[in-house]
Amino acid sequence: MIHYGVIVHGGAGSPSHFSDGCKVACESAFGFIEAGKSALDAVVEAVRILEDDGRFNAGYGSALRLDGKTVEMDASVMDSKGKIGIVIAIRNVKNPIQVARAVLETPHVALAGEGATAFARKQGFAQFYKVSDYAMERYKEIKQKIKEGNLSGEDYRWKDYDIEKLWNYKSGSYKDILCDTVGSVAIDKKGMLAVANSTGGFSPMMQGRVGDSPMIGCGFYSGPACAVATTGMGEEIIKKMLAKTVYDMVANGKDIKKACELGIKMFSSEIKVGIIAISKEGYASMSNTGMASYTLTHFL
Ligand code: GLY
Repeated sequence: MIHYGVIVHGGAGSPSHFSDGCKVACESAFGFIEAGKSALDAVVEAVRILEDDGRFNAGYGSALRLDGKTVEMDASVMDSKGKIGIVIAIRNVKNPIQVARAVLETPHVALAGEGATAFARKQGFAQFYKVSDYAMERYKEIKQKIKEGNLSGEDYRWKDYDIEKLWNYKSGSYKDILCDTVGSVAIDKKGMLAVANSTGGFSPMMQGRVGDSPMIGCGFYSGPACAVATTGMGEEIIKKMLAKTVYDMVANGKDIKKACELGIKMFSSEIKVGIIAISKEGYASMSNTGMASYTLTHFL
């Protein structure tokens, strides 16, 4: 029986040797719970640290959109009492997860675009725009693929689509011109569960594109049975409502590892996907990629 614990992942697209970053985030979040803080506090802390790392596609490390300038980020947080906070396509903030946490204290569940950014300012979150070296490198690779006329070689979603026709940025063109999400699930000493997600999206992306990470039941879900965070290609994860599908399996008595295994198997191997989940009975962290992750648990 798990007394308390935290799992952190760095995204289905993150190499396993980035697990050192997940370890730092997990240890800090675990320390929160050991000190009596809630699972909600813990997952927000874990994701905040990953947002500041620069190697992960979230916060400071967020992937650039196709124009090479725009950064739009999504983040979400939910606990097992059903409290939810979401920001979608927020710009110019350092830690979208903290803004999502602040949304949780409003009458709303989700804020998007300019409204989300304006809310962040009103709450005292400073203006922030900085692109990490890692995010810039990833963008250069995509730009090269576009130049070669082989964007679908980078990402099959773009097969059969004309980037020029779909260009929806105010300026520039496709001629001027990667993956993923960080997440954490936790259970605290009182048995409360929580999940947090943050992402810069899944490159290559049009302006305004939204993936699974801020969509309840797709990228995240938490209830009395368990907390689940997913990562990978949002367009595919949304179609399968992956987080709620895994949650329901656990709620109906399936072992948590088996449920996550079945969740991963719902996707063909070229679709990157990862899942972390925790409950009183057990936990799981798995992917079809070898993603960076870290787990700390204390058993009764
Ligand atoms: N899983 C991140 C995204 O598709 O936006």
